[in-house]
Amino acid sequence: MTLLAGILGFPLAHSISPAFQQAAFDFYSLPIRYHAWPTRPDELEGKVSTLRGASYLGANVTVPYKEQVRAYLDDIDPWARSIGAVNTIAREGDRLLGYNTDAYGFLRSLKDEGAFDPQGKNVVLLGAGGAARAACHALASAGVASMIVANRTLERASALADEIRDSVADVYAIPMSGDRLRRACASTDLIVNSTSVGMRHGAAEGLSPLEDSIISPETLVYDVVYNPPDTPLLKQATKAGARTVGGLPMLIYQGAAAFERWTSKEAPIDLMFRAGERALASLVEAD
Ligand code: ATR
Repeated sequence: MTLLAGILGFPLAHSISPAFQQAAFDFYSLPIRYHAWPTRPDELEGKVSTLRGASYLGANVTVPYKEQVRAYLDDIDPWARSIGAVNTIAREGDRLLGYNTDAYGFLRSLKDEGAFDPQGKNVVLLGAGGAARAACHALASAGVASMIVANRTLERASALADEIRDSVADVYAIPMSGDRLRRACASTDLIVNSTSVGMRHGAAEGLSPLEDSIISPETLVYDVVYNPPDTPLLKQATKAGARTVGGLPMLIYQGAAAFERWTSKEAPIDLMFRAGERALASLVEAD
């Protein structure tokens, strides 16, 4: 029997998960087909309940359902609980279990692509939405020394900072502009953009979230935005002599962790990277 897996979200026209997940299943000649399942809000509960069927392996979950989907699952793992979001569902028997592999994907990409160990480091985190929550909890668990959470809506930054204060005593929330942000960016070890600023097709396409900040060449600049691969922030960082990591590695590593959860096989990472890069290049070309 062919098993089914897929990604739930809306819209999904720009998802590259089907390309790199299918490549991984095919690598092991597994009889699994991975689909894009664009799902409207009123269809979500029904679609999740179909995953209980014997022909389903599980699903990835993306914007805008990572929070809402928790209500339709039987249990969720500790990462999903602290981040408040599920990006992977696995059917185990007749139970649907929710996982969050975004934090793992973020940390692994930071270590493997950025050669960066967060332990004892100072960090500026831009954003306080879903992607920021995964990065924030991941960095707190990895033992950062300090964190500044900067967000357009200050209350969201404050709420996120409060969540990690038990493990990171030196954490502050500040607005997304102004002198404090400029000073913090000039002297930090790591800047993570987890806002959607710079994203292709987004409202702030073509912009950097740090237009008027100076970036130190000593800083590693990480952008969770993967389309375009060379975001305005990453261009700015490269010009400043800083090292950079783009958003594709996090996407691949979170997907690799989902693959391993579903199949208990080691994810063929290099192949998933190549498939992801190809899919991304054709998205960019199609524009
Ligand atoms: P995701 O789940 O992809 O992170 P999200 O939860 O909607 O999406 O969060 C988007 C993040 O990008 C938020 O931090 C948002 O700031 P607000 O909390 O103020 O909404 C940030 N963001 C989006 N557009 C922005 C813009 N034009 N300028 C600055 N920040 C922006």
